[in-house]
Amino acid sequence: MRPAQRSRQETLALRRQLIGLLLLSDACHSSSCKLFFSNDPVKIVKAKGQYMYDENGRRYLDCINNVAHVGHCHPDIVKAAHEQNQLLNTNSRYLHDNLVDYAERLSKTLPEKLCIFYFLNSGSEANDLALRLARQYTRHEDVIVLDHAYHGHLTSLIDISPYKFRNLEGQKEWVHVAPVPDTYRGLYREDHEDSVTAYANEVKNIIEQAHKRGRKIAAFFVESLPSVGGQIIPPAGYFQKVAEHVHKAGGVFIADEIQVGFGRVGKHFWAFQLQGEDFIPDIVTMGKPIGNGHPIACVATTKEIAEAFAATGVEYFNTFGGNPVSCAIGLAVLDVIEKEHLQAHATEVGNFLMKLLKEQKMKHPIIGDVRGSGLFIGVDLIKDQAERTPATAEAEYLITRLKEEYILLSTDGPGRNVLKFKPPMCFSMEDAKFVVDTIDKLLTGSTDQNCLIEGCCWTASKSMLSC
Ligand SMILES: Cc1ncc(COP(=O)(O)O)c(C=O)c1O
Repeated sequence: MRPAQRSRQETLALRRQLIGLLLLSDACHSSSCKLFFSNDPVKIVKAKGQYMYDENGRRYLDCINNVAHVGHCHPDIVKAAHEQNQLLNTNSRYLHDNLVDYAERLSKTLPEKLCIFYFLNSGSEANDLALRLARQYTRHEDVIVLDHAYHGHLTSLIDISPYKFRNLEGQKEWVHVAPVPDTYRGLYREDHEDSVTAYANEVKNIIEQAHKRGRKIAAFFVESLPSVGGQIIPPAGYFQKVAEHVHKAGGVFIADEIQVGFGRVGKHFWAFQLQGEDFIPDIVTMGKPIGNGHPIACVATTKEIAEAFAATGVEYFNTFGGNPVSCAIGLAVLDVIEKEHLQAHATEVGNFLMKLLKEQKMKHPIIGDVRGSGLFIGVDLIKDQAERTPATAEAEYLITRLKEEYILLSTDGPGRNVLKFKPPMCFSMEDAKFVVDTIDKLLTGSTDQNCLIEGCCWTASKSMLSC
């Protein structure tokens, strides 16, 4: 292993000099290439399982890295990469068993209809291809997305990511934004008599309005569980109803599983399956956890959609997509999920973590909602019960203090007030207990007299004042 060659401060200075442009204002550092905990970033030099280690050997509990799906540096994945690297790595224009073995294995996890595969290198590439497939098949242009969604960093995907385009030049005429089916702080809440139909009707109305303007819907593009949108669990049955409206309009349903696929939700391998057995998307995109840190992505679709794409006569070629090393790693990830029963483990540990967090909700009024499935969990922090005002500063303070306790957690949602748990799937019961005990300690304020989170009497701490 290469030793840490520079001090943390030296690395930080070089990073600020070289990586993305740094803007300085009022002692606040801002760059387009952001660091976690930007005022006091962590330098990580190695990782194993659910733990990351800094240059001084201090161990951090990783509660957020859903890319290191089966655990950081899992020996089986490292071995699979090493063995294949010693033999061959080349593009997919030669016959190779790894490619077909991998596609076959993935097909066993999906409904039969999703039987054609394309391999790529990043979630963004997968979503861009999904968009092309949808447009080619439908011959329509328009896309419906959920508010606050993020689908990737390519130009085409910034256009369909309200989370990004709202801060840029705005919404394109071919993009339509539907409300997030969030029954905690959305348009229709837990007390609504039929939030499923109400949210689906919002999509129906959007389609009708678009048709009146002569526009045609190519796709409804949605994350199966909106992550950046605030760790949302759409009510079951919503996708079916939306798909009905979208299909009627000649469009297709694209499920972005880039964050949430591969057994994370416990009960099912794919998060869209939480909607019910009768729901099957037309296109599924995969990324992040698929390669446990190695850049792999995939698009799965139907024969009909693939045929329309092939009918253009234009070759689809991706230099690195589906290479033998990537496929060996992808296969090893699937093997480990099975061998270590990680789906069942996600259910067991996720349920335990949710139970502990719900107990905290009874104790600390700042916790408004605890929601999730398996090891995809959101804790919605609020300033007040009546309005459910996002407790943004408090959430920021809490994750900063947790970092000082060697726990890496992060926030999501438009109010940046939802603590997101998406740990490597080997996260244990002891880890769950440790993180919840620490949250309890911090919320109780027993260790920091400056912090009076309880009752929302807020005094900024040193960490908050620094930026
Ligand atoms: C839901 C979702 N889709 C797509 C992407 C883009 O993936 P990548 O960063 O691998 O291009 C992301 C990345 O954060 C994501 O969260």
